[in-house]
Amino acid sequence: MSTNWKPDKIRSSDITPEAVYLNRRQFMKGAAVFAAGAVLAACAPQIAPQAPTPLPAEVGAMAGQKDELGDPLTVYAAVTGYNNYYEFTQSKEGVAGLAHDFKTRPWTVAVGGLVNKPHTYDIDELIKRFPVQERIYRLRCVEGWSMVIPWRGFPLKQLLAEVEPTNAAKYVRFQTILDPQQMPGQSDPSFPWPYTEGLRMDEAQNDLTLLTTGVYGQDLLPQNGAPIRIVTPWKYGFKSVKAIVKIDLVADQPSTLWPLTAPDEYGFYANVNPNVPHPRWSQSTERRIGDADRRPTLLFNGYADQVASMYAGMDLHANF
Ligand code: MTE
Repeated sequence: MSTNWKPDKIRSSDITPEAVYLNRRQFMKGAAVFAAGAVLAACAPQIAPQAPTPLPAEVGAMAGQKDELGDPLTVYAAVTGYNNYYEFTQSKEGVAGLAHDFKTRPWTVAVGGLVNKPHTYDIDELIKRFPVQERIYRLRCVEGWSMVIPWRGFPLKQLLAEVEPTNAAKYVRFQTILDPQQMPGQSDPSFPWPYTEGLRMDEAQNDLTLLTTGVYGQDLLPQNGAPIRIVTPWKYGFKSVKAIVKIDLVADQPSTLWPLTAPDEYGFYANVNPNVPHPRWSQSTERRIGDADRRPTLLFNGYADQVASMYAGMDLHANF
C-alpha cells in the first residue's frame, strides 16, 4: 500500500506467522485440514520455534469450511498474523504484537450526519442489537494477495435503517479511532489520519456489506479491527476499515485516506477488477495466502452477481 510498495512477492519473511503462531502439534492438525496452509508453513523452516499458543476452540470447530467457490478458509495463523493496519506498523507480521493491548472498551460508535435519528451506540449495545450472521468472504488486497476469512457480524443496512437516512444522504463515511498514544503509526505525518473510508449509499446498503464484530467464531482481535470494522468483499481490502468510531451519512463523495495519499493509485470505488491495473502492477492475478501459485483475479472478487448491477453503465477504468 505504501507509495513505494512493490507488487506481491511473498518472501520468506512474509510468511513467518505460520511458524510463529502455530506450534508443531497445532500445525500438523491444521495442515490436515488446511492443505494450503501446509505449503505456507513449510516455506519457513528458518524460523526458530516459539512457545506454543493454544488455538481458540472456535477455530477448530470451523475446520474444513469453504467459501461458495469451494476454496478452504485461510489458516487462522495467517488471518490473525499477517495484517495491514498502518496505525500500528507497515510490517504485516508486526501488527498483531503491537496491537495486542489495544483497548477496545469503553468504545462508542457515533452514527450521524444526514439522518433523522442520530445515535451514539455503546459497542456492547451495538453488537447485541442485530442477529449475528457468519459469513465466509474472500479478501483481496490491492497489493495482490488474498485470503478466505470467516467473519461474524450483521449487514450495515440494518443499522442504517435504524437511524433513518434523509433523502439528502448519498454516501456513508467511516472513521477509525484517532489515538496516537495507542497507535504509533498515527504519528507518521505522511498520512491524513484518522483512517477514513466511504461507500456510496447503495453500496452501503448492499447485503454483502458487513459490520463485522468477529472472526473465526470469536470476537475480533485487535489486529483484525476490533471491536468493529466494515467488510466489503467485492472491493480491495483497504475499503474494509477497522476500529470504527464514527459513521456519517453525507451528501458528497467523501475524501478518504488512500485517495488523498496517492490519488493516481487508489480510487474511491476500489472494486476488485482484473482488467484495471494498478499504475505500478497488474491486478489480473493474485496470491492466495497458503498457495504456491498465483491464481486469476475474479471481477468484483467473484461477487459480480450481487454487485455488478450497481455499476451498470459506469466506466470502471475512470472510476477505479
Ligand atoms: N483499516 C485501518 N484503520 N487501517 C489500515 O491500515 N488496512 C486495510 C484494511 N483496513 C487498514 C484498514 C487493508 S490495506 C487491508 S488489506 C485490510 O484492512 C486487511 O484486513 P486484515 O488485516 O483483517 O486482513
